[in-house]
Amino acid sequence: MPLEWTPALQTDVPEIDEQHQELFRRIALFSAAIAENKGDAEIGKMVEFMAEYAELHLSTEEKLLQQHSFPQLAVHKAQHDYYRRNIAAIKQQLATAADQQELVDKVYQILTLWLINHIKKMDLIWAAYLKSKPSTP
Ligand SMILES: [Fe+2]
Ligand SMILES: [Fe+2]
Repeated sequence: MPLEWTPALQTDVPEIDEQHQELFRRIALFSAAIAENKGDAEIGKMVEFMAEYAELHLSTEEKLLQQHSFPQLAVHKAQHDYYRRNIAAIKQQLATAADQQELVDKVYQILTLWLINHIKKMDLIWAAYLKSKPSTP
């Protein structure tokens, strides 16, 4: 199953669409690094980078939604916080990982599937809301 960004996930906010695509690229690199048993230092650097990028994306999106007074911002932000917690947990588990394969599955499940699901079900809701607004600030 290709776990990639597809045009079906387009929000029509170019900055956000670019960030979503970059997130998929980073998760793929991270998963591959674990699967190929790259050194701990390299994997650690990669997850650190990914965590930073995810944070950049989530906060960019939250700022955008705040600027546009998106009515469901609190619910949306709670979903983002769930993702933040999962990334933090994976970072922690990497430090003590006994079973690397288990971690690969977790990265795949949590980070990628959640992201696709979140963009489809949640981000496309705010995207529709922004499109329906007569003017943008
Ligand atoms: Fe997003
Ligand atoms: Fe989002």
